[in-house]
Amino acid sequence: MYISKNPYRPIKSEVMDVITETSTIKTIKIRPGEPIDFKTGQFIELTIPGVGEAPFTPSSRPAIKEMLEITVMKVGKVTEAIHNLKKGDIIGLRGPFGNGYPLDEFRGKEVLIVGGGCGFAPLRSLMYEFFDHEDEFKKLFFRGGCKTSKDFLYRKEIEEWAKRNNINLELTVDEGDSEWDWKVGVVTTILDDVDMDFANGVAIVCGPPIMMKYATKKLLEMGFRDKNIYLSMERNMSCGIGKCGHCRLGIYYTCKDGPVFRYDMIKNYPDIWD
Ligand SMILES: Cc1cc2nc3c(=O)[nH]c(=O)nc-3n(C[C@H](O)[C@H](O)[C@H](O)COP(=O)(O)OP(=O)(O)OC[C@H]3O[C@@H](n4cnc5c(N)ncnc54)[C@H](O)[C@@H]3O)c2cc1C
Ligand code: FES
Repeated sequence: MYISKNPYRPIKSEVMDVITETSTIKTIKIRPGEPIDFKTGQFIELTIPGVGEAPFTPSSRPAIKEMLEITVMKVGKVTEAIHNLKKGDIIGLRGPFGNGYPLDEFRGKEVLIVGGGCGFAPLRSLMYEFFDHEDEFKKLFFRGGCKTSKDFLYRKEIEEWAKRNNINLELTVDEGDSEWDWKVGVVTTILDDVDMDFANGVAIVCGPPIMMKYATKKLLEMGFRDKNIYLSMERNMSCGIGKCGHCRLGIYYTCKDGPVFRYDMIKNYPDIWD
């Protein structure tokens, strides 16, 4: 359900807090003008008055309707304006849009979650869903990677996840330093010790395109079926509701049919990792 009956009309919402995560990433806590009912993996369009609009996937717990968090990497005009927000500022929200993660497909199975960089944002929201319904999933395997320890989004929180019963978790950075006591190497190197039933398990990948490309290749080599690999795809978006065609991916609109796709649905399109 959209927070506004008119999907093009942003709802005025208030910034509750701004948290600096890394030198380029901030988390914005937002009080939506109306309670927002999003499914993990869906996205919202955030408007900064006078600057523009951009899509983001909430990183917060879907069960909480009165507060929404988005975690934003500064890359350009809109994201810079988001980084400059202060408590009490008014912004616009449209959505939620897209399909989100098909949790029913994951129930009763072993699930491997592979994340990189800013990809931890949607995955944090997904992990909350897994933790809130722990008994419904056979076992969770989490593998996360970033460039350096300083780029490691939500590091303290993710390290807490490792203490839970039903999860096997490993982290890595491309370049180690004295602050880092997990593995060193690209994220595919920490997939080698995942011990699960690959043919019947599910893998979820979210991160920069290059990481998703090599992680998917590795998952296929490990024995995952292409129909059991779920990818969060990003495309330039405008309307968010399947009308403008900006986000086309083959026969699909990423905003409406995605952003979560099974690999078998999109693997034959040449530009999926662009
Ligand atoms: C469904 C969806 C969910 C997203 N969720 C998040 C999120 O949770 N956190 C987050 O930080 N970002 C997320 N993004 C990316 C975010 O929307 C873009 O970074 C943002 O639109 C850039 O706007 P800008 O005006 O700051 O930069 P622009 O001036 O528009 O672009 C600056 C640079 O970033 C590149 N860029 C712009 N948009 C994208 C994109 N979609 N993917 C890759 N590169 C892009 C441009 O090519 C350019 O090089 C998401 C994108 C989509 C489609
Ligand atoms: S963003 Fe307009 S069709 Fe997808």
